[in-house]
Amino acid sequence: MNSLPATANSNTPVVSLEKLKETDGSFKGMASGLLEDVMKGNPYFAAGGGLMLLGTGLALLKSGITRVSGLAYRQMLVDLEIPSKDKSYLWFLEWMSQYKHRSSRHLSVETNYTQHNNGSISTSFSLVPGPGKHLIKYEGAWMLINRERSGKLLDMTNGTPFETITLTTLYRDRNKFPSLLEEAKRMALKTREGKTVIYTSWGQEWRPFGQPRMKRLIDSVVLDKGIKESIIDDVQDFLTSGQWYHDRGIPYRRGYLLYGPPGSGKTSFIQSLAGYLDYNICILNLSETNLTDDRLNYLMNHIPERSILLLEDVDAAFNKRSQTDEKGYSSGVTFSGLLNALDGVASAEEMLTFMTSNHPERLDPALLRPGRVDYKVLIDNASIYQIERMFLRFYGETHRELCDEFLEQFKTLGLPTVSAAQLQGLFVYNKRDPKKAIEMVEVLKQPNHVF
Ligand SMILES: Nc1ncnc2c1ncn2[C@@H]1O[C@H](COP(=O)(O)OP(=O)(O)OP(=O)(O)O)[C@@H](O)[C@H]1O
Ligand SMILES: [Mg+2]
Repeated sequence: MNSLPATANSNTPVVSLEKLKETDGSFKGMASGLLEDVMKGNPYFAAGGGLMLLGTGLALLKSGITRVSGLAYRQMLVDLEIPSKDKSYLWFLEWMSQYKHRSSRHLSVETNYTQHNNGSISTSFSLVPGPGKHLIKYEGAWMLINRERSGKLLDMTNGTPFETITLTTLYRDRNKFPSLLEEAKRMALKTREGKTVIYTSWGQEWRPFGQPRMKRLIDSVVLDKGIKESIIDDVQDFLTSGQWYHDRGIPYRRGYLLYGPPGSGKTSFIQSLAGYLDYNICILNLSETNLTDDRLNYLMNHIPERSILLLEDVDAAFNKRSQTDEKGYSSGVTFSGLLNALDGVASAEEMLTFMTSNHPERLDPALLRPGRVDYKVLIDNASIYQIERMFLRFYGETHRELCDEFLEQFKTLGLPTVSAAQLQGLFVYNKRDPKKAIEMVEVLKQPNHVF
């Protein structure tokens, strides 16, 4: 019986000796030739190998695409992040709420109060972009805006969640960011234009007290000859001397003390000065019982920019370095706490502090030393000069003769002093009738006369 030739069945790869000869004879060559034969000869292997190659190729392609798109993203797109603790955050939201060319489906409501000149208040709602993605076109550039809320982190000062807004645009449009922010800022500040914001302390932070008020005109406060001008000159000189202070390593701050009898215009002058300089006012009441040294220090170091710090009635808060006043109420702030806070203000921005007092003689000399109080000025009861200026301001420069008559009458009273507030009371009572004011001049004899 002839033995069958050793033919392999169809599935068995046939290793051809001829082929092996064709290789370069090395083991590598032999192995690859073998592999090729196995792959070709076996459809399962061939299909599996193909799939494997395809998978690897696709995986490589995918990671390539990810890398290229990452690279392209980095090269072609720019992001701008605005965290919620930054000032421009609210400006941006306000700007977005008014911006027409936007498409957003997630909105949040923000209620605004507007106080009119007659004191009435009206409410309006603005729909600001809520958390999520929004698309806008700004000056021809597409921008993707992503407002994100951090679920866990809370801003401890006001208990709201931390948020960020990320603006993304093409690299070539990156210069649109500054102009957008500038526009948002301009818009936000415009609503406060011509107004003075009064801040008071609220826990750890400064909060606007009521609505921004109409600026008080500096001309409406009549001080004795030259006083107003010299204070204004001093403040303006200070505000333009930042570099000078910096070069000499002197803390860039200046303290003013306006002292004098009640109703002489101390507070009114500071308000009008703030309006004149386009500054806001931060009022701190040192007698507040829950104000502690730490809080005072923190607040004084975190004053909103372009603000005057106003400490009213500094003599009333302390009674000779003790923490308790005559009535037994204890104030949380110690005198040394105030001194430290005044000395410790370490701000790159200028720091203007105004203090008022009716009893400067009660003030501790430590408070009055230069560096804490650099400029002291008496704002006294009305002088003849002030009475004349006030009369003419109320009734108009044309009433010179009546003004002289009023002064004559006033002199006959033989009054040593009268406060500007008393005079204002008389003139307001006789708004449109200067003659009546002359007739009524006698009432000035009673400082507490109620019209
Ligand atoms: N020099 C002034 N010129 C114009 N108005 C004045 C002047 N002084 C006082 N008034 C008017 O009198 C009122 C009280 O003034 P203001 O509160 O400024 O006084 P003050 O010196 O701060 O008093 P106090 O020491 O009691 O705090 C205000 O309505 C203000 O308009
Ligand atoms: Mg006052």
